[in-house]
Amino acid sequence: FSLKPYNTFGVEAKSKYFAEVNNIEELKEALNFSKSQNLNLLFLGGGSNILLTKDFDGLTIQLNLKGISEEIINDNEVLVTAKAGENWHEFVLYCLNKNFGGLENLSLIPGNVGTSPMQNIGAYGTEIKDVFVKCLVLNLETLETEEFNLEKCRFGYRDSIFKQEGKGKYVILEVSFKLTTKNHTIKTEYGAITSELQNLGIENPTIQDISKAVINIRQSKLPNPKEIGNAGSFFKNPTIPLVQFENLKQKFENIPGYPNGDFVKVPAGWLIEQAGWKGKQIGNTASHKLQALVIINATDNATGKEIFDFSTNIINSVKEKFGIELEREVNII
Ligand code: EPU
Repeated sequence: FSLKPYNTFGVEAKSKYFAEVNNIEELKEALNFSKSQNLNLLFLGGGSNILLTKDFDGLTIQLNLKGISEEIINDNEVLVTAKAGENWHEFVLYCLNKNFGGLENLSLIPGNVGTSPMQNIGAYGTEIKDVFVKCLVLNLETLETEEFNLEKCRFGYRDSIFKQEGKGKYVILEVSFKLTTKNHTIKTEYGAITSELQNLGIENPTIQDISKAVINIRQSKLPNPKEIGNAGSFFKNPTIPLVQFENLKQKFENIPGYPNGDFVKVPAGWLIEQAGWKGKQIGNTASHKLQALVIINATDNATGKEIFDFSTNIINSVKEKFGIELEREVNII
């Protein structure tokens, strides 16, 4: 079974077995099958944060659970719950349509609702942890459902329990967010949003305006995975000790950094560009010409292995130039 249409990099990889599940019963059925055959499991949501480097000799489960529900919390807030298979951006638009605030800065992020907690998706000054309340998961060992609240998820920058101790142990079935119904908090501290709102001539932005600005910014520099295979940022932005940053600053005056206590977060895109990779193509793979942090399947014929090797070259060259070791953000299968 070809997984090419199920990963946004658009690389070819075959899975021995494949099941699309629409509800918990079907999911359990698929899991029982995998147990009886002793198969390895691969869960797919939107396929927007994985790189398949070889064929998969097990069962791939495509989570297609759908549905959105709402519960009033108080005068000002609503609890919105979406099932794992809802497309993230469509869910954001659904909320904006109802004038529910909190997700507008996260417009146009690829992927599904069910994978959003895995890496605590974030952009333009917001992370889902800011509005996250809980998620319902299926424990793969017991086949019982469990609830994970905010604390239990241990969210960090592009990180959660589901990437650490919980890795491979749970499937996320639905996620609940606390959103505002009035007196929305507008987050424009991210410079690019302020300038885009100016371009649009908007002075007192609504949550819908913020979404529009974010969509414009993303469309202006991030390649649309439907047109050019990619998985967004391929690496995390590295955090380095302040001392190391100050040393680097002596040599590279313009190095950007966002200080955070004794540490500084450095944009990986800048490091990669300075190391000479922006827009560079080797074979079928390239670094995107408008955002070096995004690796693309430039010809639609790249293999996962090729993309992986390309990323290793970037890691090595950034390490050599800056002494910083980039960490991949995309899941390597
Ligand atoms: N930069 C360069 N060259 C480049 C790209 C970036 O010099 O080719 C420098 C610029 O100085 C720029 C700075 O990097 O000011 C930051 O760039 P940008 O605002 O594009 O954000 P980013 O740090 O590269 C992160 C997230 C994105 C998210 C944006 C906006 C990570 C790994 N990436 O990128 O998330 O959309 O901020 O908030 O944290 C994703 O995770 O897939 C993703 C796209």
